[in-house]
Amino acid sequence: MNDREDTRLLPPDERGVAEAAALLRHGRLVAFPTETVYGLGADATNGRAVAAIYDAKNRPRFNPLIVHVPDTAAAERLAVLSPAARSLAEAFWPGPLTLVLPVREDSGLSDLIRAGHSTVAIRVPANPLARALLRSVDRPIAAPSANPSGRLSPTTAQHVLDGLSGRIAAVLDDGACPVGVESTILKPVDGAVHLLREGGLPAEAVKAMPGMRLIRPGQGADAPEAPGMLVSHYAPRAALRLNAPAPEKGEAWLGFGPGPEGENLSRSGDLIEAAANLFSALHALDAGGPKRIAVAPIPETGLGRAINDRLRRAAAPRSG
Ligand code: TXA
Ligand code: MG
Repeated sequence: MNDREDTRLLPPDERGVAEAAALLRHGRLVAFPTETVYGLGADATNGRAVAAIYDAKNRPRFNPLIVHVPDTAAAERLAVLSPAARSLAEAFWPGPLTLVLPVREDSGLSDLIRAGHSTVAIRVPANPLARALLRSVDRPIAAPSANPSGRLSPTTAQHVLDGLSGRIAAVLDDGACPVGVESTILKPVDGAVHLLREGGLPAEAVKAMPGMRLIRPGQGADAPEAPGMLVSHYAPRAALRLNAPAPEKGEAWLGFGPGPEGENLSRSGDLIEAAANLFSALHALDAGGPKRIAVAPIPETGLGRAINDRLRRAAAPRSG
């Protein structure tokens, strides 16, 4: 966990936006208003900054995060928009809508954002200050709701401070969020659109679009799992052996802290660095085609809990 810092309250003007943008570009965490709820922002291309989000929120798991961009053109640089996705974007962006889309190979996004999924959740918020901030940072911004894990989503800057003061660099204050509930999450798949989360954009508005087939959770055999209940997480093809003191013959090695040569989550034993490296390290090792990957013990504190959660799931027996 980071040392406590003085969380600054930034005004809703040009100076506040410029300071928030500079902090984000330096990999710091800044909460900012959207029309739904306040988001806890970090540079989505900076793995350490993204890992710091999970640390500040004390999230026990690496759920994938929503990436915020100023317009559809910026979204197209990160993900592939099908014709259905494009008409949803045209109809409802900027606004309380998040689209889950196939990520582009060259998106530059940190692997931690997607938590191993091949899709990325993208949103263009409507709040003018948020859009000014996103344009000014000129980088995609990851932002879950700006509350500690398990607490209510914040709709004022004071709510953010109540939960996260001392754990983030700043809050950009723009009063109360008009919508007050999170964005609606949709995933377009093969001519249909799956509703992954109800939210600020009413499902009726989506259904009313010509030719739109909206599939609610639980409907349809191939329905993607609802967010927060994503059980089929990324797992490497290789088997995992956890809490290993050293690799055995034929095993690839994933270290933490000082120890044997090879792939290492963080030689200095820094859990934020380890979280930032987790998915790319697993992908890199798996690409070598080993039968088994031995993983060094990771302490069960701070971000170590989320890392171990993901490793245990990747190590669990799976079918098919
Ligand atoms: O209104 C909102 O959406 C707020 C503001 C700050 O934008 N953000 C927000 O983020 O609610 P968060 O992290 O609290 O919720 C993100 C949800 C999670 O339930 C997650 O599982 C889902 O989005 N999600 C993210 N990426 C996904 C993906 N690739 N596939 C499926 N679900 C995804
Ligand atoms: Mg939330």
